[in-house]
Amino acid sequence: MIKVLFVCLGNICRSPLAEAIFNKKIELAGMQNQFKSDSAGTSDYHIGELPDERTLSCAKKYELSIHHRGRQVHRTDFRDFQYILAMDDNNLKVLGQLKDRFGFPKKEIHLMRNFVDHTKGLSVPDPYYGGEEAFEEIYQILDEAIENFLNKVIVTHQLYV
Ligand code: 4NP
Repeated sequence: MIKVLFVCLGNICRSPLAEAIFNKKIELAGMQNQFKSDSAGTSDYHIGELPDERTLSCAKKYELSIHHRGRQVHRTDFRDFQYILAMDDNNLKVLGQLKDRFGFPKKEIHLMRNFVDHTKGLSVPDPYYGGEEAFEEIYQILDEAIENFLNKVIVTHQLYV
């Protein structure tokens, strides 16, 4: 079982959407038994909350099922998840500090957009203060990056449908 954790700041916009996109892709590929996914935030701002209304509308538009309550990254996440994917530079920095503090200094954290060659080093922009178009933009960014991530994992782990 390959475990994948998507991380953003609030865990109500980008990372729950990323998790939902990922889940749909593995379901379409018939690989849901080979993966477990979750999402979390680096902050404690929205613990226990449902995803943002705009995240839910975007998920509805693209027929993604989304069932998540906000939670903060936890020490055990560094032990339990093989892949930890950060949405932006700040998430990456905080996760880098947490992994040292929690005793997992060797854990590799990936920036989500590094899976697309021409967007390496870029962030999935924070849509919180944006409008509906900001959510459309992050959907498109995530869809492409997650497609590439999944293909890479399938090759790396020699997974077969
Ligand atoms: P997310 O978006 O990190 O993609 O979930 C945000 C959600 C909430 C806040 C910022 C970003 N906030 O400042 O409360």
